[in-house]
Amino acid sequence: MNATIIIDKDFQIARVDDRLFGSFVEHLGRCVYTGIFEPEHETADENGFRSDVIDLVNALRVPIIRYPGGNFVSAYNWEDGIGPVEERPTRLDLAWRTLEPNTFGLNEFMKWSKRVHADPLMTVNLGTLGIDNARNMVEYCNLEKGTYWSDLRRTHGIEKPHNIRTWCLGNEMDGPWQIGHKTPMEYGRLARETGKAMKLVDPSIELVTCGSSKYIMPTFPQWEVETLEHTYDIADYISMHNYYGNWDGNTSEYLALNVEVEDFIHTVKAACDYVKAKKRSSKTMMICFDEWNIWFHNKQEDKKLMSQEILPTATPLLEEYYTHEDALLVGALLISLLKNADRVKIACIAQLVNVIAPIIAEKGGKAWRQTIYFPFQHVSLYGRGIALEPMVSSPTYESDRFGPVPYVESIAVLSEERKELVVFAVNRNLEEPIDLHVELRSGNFRTVIDHQVMTANTLKDTNSCEGEIIRPVHSKKHAADERGITVSLPKASWNMIRLGSCKQ
Ligand code: AHR
Repeated sequence: MNATIIIDKDFQIARVDDRLFGSFVEHLGRCVYTGIFEPEHETADENGFRSDVIDLVNALRVPIIRYPGGNFVSAYNWEDGIGPVEERPTRLDLAWRTLEPNTFGLNEFMKWSKRVHADPLMTVNLGTLGIDNARNMVEYCNLEKGTYWSDLRRTHGIEKPHNIRTWCLGNEMDGPWQIGHKTPMEYGRLARETGKAMKLVDPSIELVTCGSSKYIMPTFPQWEVETLEHTYDIADYISMHNYYGNWDGNTSEYLALNVEVEDFIHTVKAACDYVKAKKRSSKTMMICFDEWNIWFHNKQEDKKLMSQEILPTATPLLEEYYTHEDALLVGALLISLLKNADRVKIACIAQLVNVIAPIIAEKGGKAWRQTIYFPFQHVSLYGRGIALEPMVSSPTYESDRFGPVPYVESIAVLSEERKELVVFAVNRNLEEPIDLHVELRSGNFRTVIDHQVMTANTLKDTNSCEGEIIRPVHSKKHAADERGITVSLPKASWNMIRLGSCKQ
């Protein structure tokens, strides 16, 4: 089988915002406790941060990390997590019915995020709390000195303000499971007034208003339209969340789910642009897709666990072991995000460690990389630059939900900095390899610098503590002709092809 991607460096979607490769750390299960923070671990630094985990996070080059939730934030008070650790209260976290010791809080997170070279995407509680709590937090974090909250921070040993730039106004407030769930009118008004007060404290901040918590929410996209009527002027981004799963064991349907993501993004854009037109606004609302990933393997077991008793801190929850087919879908989802780089400016793979995560940190043991780590790493490292219009022609297969779906999902990113053209491609054909012809209409990118391929013996193969058996390898299966390069994409594979000029 053959497919073609035509590449013209003048057909540009947009410059990719680096923050498209963000992630998420929530006080949930073992993400914080025994994930990023485990003072007893042999690799722990003087702050109790696991250095083995830090190394794996640094290798992903994650530029922004959302914190502290998620559902957790909607009944959390950040004030419990500051000041002398021995004076901090142990609380019952209602979202995950877990004991929260508050030994890790805002200032610890800020210190840790510096070690992984990431900016925070801070979320305020608009479930049980509101305006006062949020504006105090901005004052604590962003003002230099001379006010109650900024001076309190200084008494906690942090002289320089954290200067947190981007803030989320609550989490999934459309969801009936959310503590303090609200109607669009209730949320819209509260978010607007909270955002107004936060921006009065620090006018330089950016705000994310809550969009729908998933595509299938019955209130989507009316929620977006109604809430934006209130928040359009105060917000800079609207959030999107969605998780995917191979619920009925049909891999071909599963691997087509990025088609749904693109529908989701297009509808959110349309809702935003409708409100923009109604308000005669000159501002275009950008998208912050701050929770996306695969989450289904253990969902039922976790539900059972949480419905029983209150869980001790660091109980394993949402620990998914990702398969090869999950990595293929993550690759396809990343391509969809790049395709929409003109409007999606921030995105966070949820989450970073242990909880639905690319990295697993064994308690007291070693940290290792899941299958999904690798496509994410490829795109984060090499997908920065200008996303080019993907003109792909590929044979298709018939999906029950989406009709004809191309076997090859692909996009190219032009990196002016590295003088490279990088093609990302998923071959969704489970039976056959496909020769992808990269046809260059402009630019002198005729040398394959590297072709990384990820395949597996079976679609359900996973990595584990014992070994990262699924990882990319270098492929030499390519040939050049006068119109471009042809690369062989093995069946059911993820591929990254870096092209340079002949001179390289
Ligand atoms: O990431 C896990 C959970 O998924 C988050 O807490 C919540 O926001 C979403 O429903």
